Amino acid sequence: MGKGWTKSDWRTKPRVQMPDYPDQAALKTVEDQLAKMPPLVFAGEARKLKRALGEAGAGRAFLLQGGDCAESFAEFSADNIRDTFKVLLQMAIVLTWGAKVPVIKIGRVAGQFAKPRSAGTEVLGGVELPSYRGDIINGFDFTSDARVPNPQRMLQAYTQASASLNLLRAFSTGGYADIHRVQSWISGFTDEADARRYREIATQISDAMDFMAAAGVTSKTAPELGTVDFYTSHEALLLEYEEALARVDSTTGLPVAGSGHMIWIGDRTRQPEGAHVEFCRGVQNPIGLKCGPSTTPEDLKVLMAKLNPDNEAGRLTLIARFGAGKVGEHLPRLIRAVQEEGASVVWSCDPMHGNTIKSATGYKTRTFDSVLREVREFFAIHKAEGTIPAGVHFEMTGQDVTECTGGVRAVTDEDLSDRYHTACDPRLNASQSLELAFLVAEELQAERALRKASGL
Ligand code: PEP
Ligand code: CO
Repeated sequence: MGKGWTKSDWRTKPRVQMPDYPDQAALKTVEDQLAKMPPLVFAGEARKLKRALGEAGAGRAFLLQGGDCAESFAEFSADNIRDTFKVLLQMAIVLTWGAKVPVIKIGRVAGQFAKPRSAGTEVLGGVELPSYRGDIINGFDFTSDARVPNPQRMLQAYTQASASLNLLRAFSTGGYADIHRVQSWISGFTDEADARRYREIATQISDAMDFMAAAGVTSKTAPELGTVDFYTSHEALLLEYEEALARVDSTTGLPVAGSGHMIWIGDRTRQPEGAHVEFCRGVQNPIGLKCGPSTTPEDLKVLMAKLNPDNEAGRLTLIARFGAGKVGEHLPRLIRAVQEEGASVVWSCDPMHGNTIKSATGYKTRTFDSVLREVREFFAIHKAEGTIPAGVHFEMTGQDVTECTGGVRAVTDEDLSDRYHTACDPRLNASQSLELAFLVAEELQAERALRKASGL
């Protein structure tokens, strides 16, 4: 990492899914402006996250990563950030109960603006326009003006990311994230008639809190109960933005992506010789790599060698996203490729991106059942292979949207039109997210019991 690499080398490599800016002079001006801005995160934080992820890879921690498919300028508000943060904390407590290990919390936030698209253009009412690529690149409105890539949008994205991160840092340490508050929010959910089946877990969590308080462990005596470590992540898709925010870390002298704690490479941009892999291999942050049905063991081996040549624990998270019913077909050969290389990886499950369908009512949606099914298949395969399911990756929001169907407070196909707000893929709403956490916690509890029994 770092040696023989510069942050602009990606420019010599084939690039996909990136915009062609018509005004190159304007682009250069924005890149120069961004390069002078403070980084959003610091190298020491990225290293701390990497160490934590190393623990997850070894089964001593568990990763929860989640947030919007695409952050948008229009939906940006303190309430939205607070609500998503709140649901992630609730999910993390429930998962901690199941896993009995620390849960690492990473938001898809403060930089998750650029989107890969399956088609370069979109046709509506006989009119064909370039596809929307996320608010950092062009506009969502279906007009030819809005769809022109505009570099000024990078500055707005940077400003929004820094304001988001500022609020998240305040929430993480300022009392909002106190474990006792979060635990009481969970009881609010399980009090509702439809969620009663989760009451038992919530009661156990509550009892554990009461026991700790009785034993004198409170956020006053143990300040760590009053704060959380919360990290940011996004897909490193728009490399002009990533390059402009890359810095050299003064402690190690190595490059670091200053745009977020963790960055990941998408399923459409993981070409071993491509621009995205080239950029990510050179920065010291923890890196995610999406693995889809078309990921071959050969490619994975090359990618692991490029992205983690020193086989550092926590450096590389493989985010499996195959689709319900397909995990058994694809995951075992990739697990074997990892084993053949003796590679250290963190296996995480994204049960969202392989499960997108079109509803009968015409909406892009996902069913709660298919999401849950993919998670269960992921756990089952790891159990069969004797490897560690180390994390989950969700598209979710703290808002009461109707974008995915199912769940205890069932959203139906007909409901989708009520509150369908996503700028890109359908997200789990607050209730669906928490319900999923309860169900994943049960999987984790079983997995942990098994590992304990086999002395691991
Ligand atoms: C995403 O995470 O929003 C995404 C586009 O995922 P993938 O690259 O796995 O399709
Ligand atoms: Co998505």
